[in-house]
Amino acid sequence: MKKNRPAARRRSPKRGGPTRSMLAAMAALAREARERAQAPYSRFKVGAALKTRTGEIVTGCNIENASYGLTMCAERVAVFKAVSEGLDDFDVIAVVADSKRLTPTCGPCRQILWEYCGDVLVHMTDLRGRSRTLRLSDLLPMPFDSSNL
Ligand code: THU
Repeated sequence: MKKNRPAARRRSPKRGGPTRSMLAAMAALAREARERAQAPYSRFKVGAALKTRTGEIVTGCNIENASYGLTMCAERVAVFKAVSEGLDDFDVIAVVADSKRLTPTCGPCRQILWEYCGDVLVHMTDLRGRSRTLRLSDLLPMPFDSSNL
């Protein structure tokens, strides 16, 4: 456990957020990661790219398996990879999928992102280049975290 936990209490600074070109670069990396998705059951491929404030970027893709329930979303793969590598202090996650509506990150991933990444920006994109960027606190307005224990 890192000494500056809980991550959920950390907040992105009001200024100095990611530039448009940084968001575009992250979306491109998420798109590449999406190509590695293991999604033979849903056929819904998702890619993610998670960035630390100091500029390290870790990607993830969804990984399904025959028991279905053990499926891991792209976002959580990225978070767990990054945390297991000792990274923290994240500010943005980009998520890309190919769907009619942008993919807003599922509930379990919102919970994990809140706990390990704090109030990051969630940059949702699709293969057509549409995008929307929201704060995690907009997607998860009343989170349960260590402050509730
Ligand atoms: N999935 C993600 O990877 N991220 C999301 O935000 C939504 C859902 C994956 C899980 C599963 O492999 C497939 O998409 C269909 O739900």
